[in-house]
Amino acid sequence: MISNYRSLIQRLRSNSIAVPNSTKKITLVTGASRGFGFSLAMQYAKRGDHVIALAKTQGGLTELDDAIKNTTGQSATLIPFNLTAPDTAFGMLGQTLFERFGKIDRLILNAATIGPSSPVAHTKEQDWQNVFAVNVTANVRLLRHLDPLLRSAGKPHITFITCTSLGDAYWGAYSASKLALNQIAASYKAETAQAGFIVDCFDPGIMATQLRRNAFPGEDQGTLQTTQEVAAGYCSN
Ligand SMILES: NC(=O)c1ccc[n+]([C@@H]2O[C@H](COP(=O)([O-])OP(=O)(O)OC[C@H]3O[C@@H](n4cnc5c(N)ncnc54)[C@H](OP(=O)(O)O)[C@@H]3O)[C@@H](O)[C@H]2O)c1
Repeated sequence: MISNYRSLIQRLRSNSIAVPNSTKKITLVTGASRGFGFSLAMQYAKRGDHVIALAKTQGGLTELDDAIKNTTGQSATLIPFNLTAPDTAFGMLGQTLFERFGKIDRLILNAATIGPSSPVAHTKEQDWQNVFAVNVTANVRLLRHLDPLLRSAGKPHITFITCTSLGDAYWGAYSASKLALNQIAASYKAETAQAGFIVDCFDPGIMATQLRRNAFPGEDQGTLQTTQEVAAGYCSN
C-alpha cells in the first residue's frame, strides 16, 4: 500500500509541478473532488491562492483542475490520497509538501464520509472504523504532519468543516465522529492561539451533495442550498 504513496510523492517532488512564488497564499482543501470541498477550492483559486486539492478520486480532482484553469489560468496541485492510509503515508506527504511549498497558509479539513446507515447496535466494525478514520483520525494526522508548514506560514488559518445538527437515528458513527472533531478543534484552537493560528469550525448547513444524498436518498435536492452558494458566503467573510 505504501508503494502507491511513493509514486505520488515522486510526482510531487518532480519538476513538473510548478511551485508558486512565495507571496502566493497556499491553501490545502481536503475532499476537494466534489461537493463543498470542490466549491471551496474554486473560491480560493479565484481569490488568487495556489490550491492543493486532496481527495481519493483522481477524476474529480482533474475536473477541479480543469475548472480552475478555465477560470483563473492557473493550475492546482492534485493529491489523490486515501485518508484511511497509514500514518507513514501522511508523514511522507507532509515531508514532501514541506520540501515543495515550505508553508500552508490555509488548511480546510473538509473531507468526510457518512458511512452506511445503521442502528448503533448493528453497525459493522469496519464501517465504524472507516468513518472515524476519515472524519477524525485523518484530520489529527494532517495537523501533526503539516504542523511545520502551518508554523512557517506565520498566521495560518485552519477551518474544520463540521456539522452541529447531530444525533439522527441510524447515523451514530457520523454523529459521534463530528462531535469528536468539534472537540478536537476546540482543543487545537486553545493550544495554538498563542502561536497566532486562526482556527474555526464551520457548519455549512444542509447542501445538495453526494453525502446528503447518501443520508436522505428520497429528498429533492433541488430545494437545497448549493455548495457554490455556501462556499461563496463563507469565503466572503
Ligand atoms: N452536505 C451537507 O448537507 C452537509 C451538512 C453539514 C456538514 N457537511 C460537511 O461538509 C463537508 C463536505 O461534505 P459534502 O456534503 O460536500 O460531501 P461529499 O460530496 O460526499 O464529498 C466528500 C469529499 O470527501 C472526500 N473523501 C471521502 N472519503 C475520503 C477518503 N477516504 N480519502 C480521501 N477523501 C475522501 C471525497 O472524495 P472522493 O470522492 O474522492 O472519495 C469528497 O471529495 C463534510 O465535512 C460534511 O460533514 C455537509
